[in-house]
Amino acid sequence: MSETASSQIDNVMHEDRLFPPSREFATRARIGSAEQYQEIYERAKNDPHGFWDEIAKNELHWFEPYTSVLEGETTNVKWFAGGKTNLAYNCLDANIAAGHGDRIALIWEGEPGDQRTLTYTELHTEVCKFANALKKLGVGVGDVVSIYMPMTPEIAIAMLACVRIGAVHSVIFAGFSAEAIADRNHDASAKVQLTSDGLWRRGKCIPLKETVDKALEKSPTVEHCIVLKRCENECNMQEGRDHWWHELVQSASEDCPATPLDSETTSFILYTSGSTGKPKGIRHTTAGYNIWTKKTFEWVFDYRDEDIYWCTADCGWITGHSYIVYGPLSAGATCLMYEGAPNHPAEDRFWELVEKYKVTILYTAPTAIRAFVKWGDEHVDKHDLSSLRLLGTVGEGINPDTWIWYHEKIGGGRCPIVDTWWQTETGGIMLSPLPGATATKPGSCTQPLPGVVPVIVDETLTPVERNNGGMLCISQPWPGMLRGIWGDEERFKRQYWETFPGNYLTGDNARLDDDGYYWIMGRIDDVINVSGHRLSTIEVESALVSHPNVAECAAVGRPHEIKGQAIAVFVTIKDAEPTDELRDDLRRHVRKEIGALAVPDDIRFTEAVPKTRSGKIMRRLLRDIAAGHEATGDTSTLEDFSVLAKLRESDEQ
Ligand code: PRX
Repeated sequence: MSETASSQIDNVMHEDRLFPPSREFATRARIGSAEQYQEIYERAKNDPHGFWDEIAKNELHWFEPYTSVLEGETTNVKWFAGGKTNLAYNCLDANIAAGHGDRIALIWEGEPGDQRTLTYTELHTEVCKFANALKKLGVGVGDVVSIYMPMTPEIAIAMLACVRIGAVHSVIFAGFSAEAIADRNHDASAKVQLTSDGLWRRGKCIPLKETVDKALEKSPTVEHCIVLKRCENECNMQEGRDHWWHELVQSASEDCPATPLDSETTSFILYTSGSTGKPKGIRHTTAGYNIWTKKTFEWVFDYRDEDIYWCTADCGWITGHSYIVYGPLSAGATCLMYEGAPNHPAEDRFWELVEKYKVTILYTAPTAIRAFVKWGDEHVDKHDLSSLRLLGTVGEGINPDTWIWYHEKIGGGRCPIVDTWWQTETGGIMLSPLPGATATKPGSCTQPLPGVVPVIVDETLTPVERNNGGMLCISQPWPGMLRGIWGDEERFKRQYWETFPGNYLTGDNARLDDDGYYWIMGRIDDVINVSGHRLSTIEVESALVSHPNVAECAAVGRPHEIKGQAIAVFVTIKDAEPTDELRDDLRRHVRKEIGALAVPDDIRFTEAVPKTRSGKIMRRLLRDIAAGHEATGDTSTLEDFSVLAKLRESDEQ
């Protein structure tokens, strides 16, 4: 354990397994060696103008060329100023013009097992028709369209139709409450609401329109609501306000040329919840976002024409925006999209889909992988997963033992894993292995992509030494960066740009190891300070998850008279009884893995840990519970409130 300045974070994770790319993978990859990555990385860092000019000129369609590559800095950055382009054009028309009209863009499977495929030409037609339907209702450039829909092709069609005509979409995950929709609609001054009668989830129809009806009572700016038929359940249609999707598109023309839009036109806003305060509408724009999602998709997933790519995210999150819709479609990829739950009708649904559609690239979240581990290998063993060649993760850190399971059980030991670190705010992937170039280490998101220049500093804004944790910042603008918080310029400045002037503050802690690999240590607010040692949550959690009886775990700090903070852990167990013997064993295990200072003071066994709807552990709530307070703050993103009640009841030791 190093004696470091108090604002630095001690590194207690020791992981030295290394997985170099196989020669076979590297030979075929776009970027096939560490030297090639270094060369591209240096070029992008030292000459961002030249680097991005070459890419943007050749890889996006320009109705009018830009006059500068990059202007301004931090809060007033402009990428490709003066140019005119269109996200939907680059996703659809450009692929058709390149002769790929008959290529399949989307393969879709609904939860009940219904299937559809759409070629690039078919998707283009659907998008044009729906864009015309929106126009007919008076939607134009700058109008906000609120989308609360199931994961059917129509959600992608709706998003693409908006950006085609310069309308700003605000997708709200279709699990949020009426209150949460109304808040977001109000903040965004949404003009039109899109929804469906229902969606299928674990065999049941969830009546979305009912929730929307309640939300619209408190959304005075919304003039129209368009309803897709999905479950054929009864729903109330308000005369004059509500319209059936199929009726609107039936009479709509297929001809809807993409509107040439300034590079910096807002493409969408996406609400993300801060740790305190109301959710913020992260604002992205057009050209920079487009090029960033396209290039990062190509680099990280090393996409090839014969691939079937499956990102299991929902379009309600940034991952769905950037790596189901905009990145893959701009790159001409074939994407699988699935509507429902991973455990319906049984826990092998994902593996059945991989086998059936011969998925080659799978991109999912650690929370899902932990669930698969808990459900048991037998569900995986039923299926032939030999089509897979590359695996990805996003959304949280992945505990090394979970990584190894993913690598061996799902990837058959042959698929590289890309652990991708990024945020709603960054628009696309920032730190990630390149599968043909980077030797991976389980638990590390490895290295920055070309164009990303990270710096890790302590509280005095001094760069920390190797192996010490500190605040992760980004010191140069990149094309996909957020351009603002909708309607709140002050919060935008305060939250991201004031702490370390000139640098973007990510809000995460990280450390760089001796090989130049990045390790994300969790959110800045989540650090646990035990007797002056600052520990990262993921390190304590990873130690516990490496115990055979631990399925999932969340670690938080609680006040302690002597130590400053004590460590409280919430543990979901597998194949074991919640006994004091197990508690002792877990303590011994952490002592062995990390050392005495990380041994948890409180161990609570719980059926599940509270998570946001995107699957992240809500440590803020757990901190309150561990400290004996009522949970406070914004809980609109909490997945299952009953989990909270169960936690309070859980027997604490
Ligand atoms: O804390 C980091 C964590 O998720 C945060 C961003 O969340 P969100 O905006 O919802 O975007 C999620 C999808 C990009 C980050 O600040 N995070 C995301 N990916 C990783 C991660 N933490 C560790 N490793 C990752 N690969």
